[in-house]
Amino acid sequence: MERTLSIIKPDGVKKNVIGEVIKRFETAGIKIAAMKMLHLSKPQAQGFYAVHKERPFFDSLTDFMTSGPIVVMVLEGDGVIAKNRKLMGATNFKDAEAGTIRKDFATDIEKNVVHGSDAVETAAFEIGYFFNGLEIQTR
Ligand code: CMP
Repeated sequence: MERTLSIIKPDGVKKNVIGEVIKRFETAGIKIAAMKMLHLSKPQAQGFYAVHKERPFFDSLTDFMTSGPIVVMVLEGDGVIAKNRKLMGATNFKDAEAGTIRKDFATDIEKNVVHGSDAVETAAFEIGYFFNGLEIQTR
């Protein structure tokens, strides 16, 4: 059974689409194995996105990710990494397919509503960044 990390970013929380995003996951047969809301500090956001630290958008991205509360979730299911990425749509909402979360709700390449792990190894790092084993329920 595969797991991935999903984040509803500060723009998604502000737009009141937490329930809408979760509904899309559950409708697709994805199970939520863990969930919490938190407000990242700048160092916490920098640690999560460390892989992007040389990118020109790193400072702006980590400012944005600390601009309000986020919802972090562990999603579980067969092929859930790819399934979640399909539901999210392309990073840039302009390139995202119709009916995807980003096409429907994103306003900006940075403020793109959701994050999802892109591979098994990054999922393991990202899940471990937010959750310990006791906080994840296999159902
Ligand atoms: P995410 O899937 O969370 O992974 C890294 C994030 O950086 C991405 O979503 C966007 O929020 C942001 N990002 C990626 N590319 C750019 C870019 N060219 N300009 C600004 N932000 C970006």
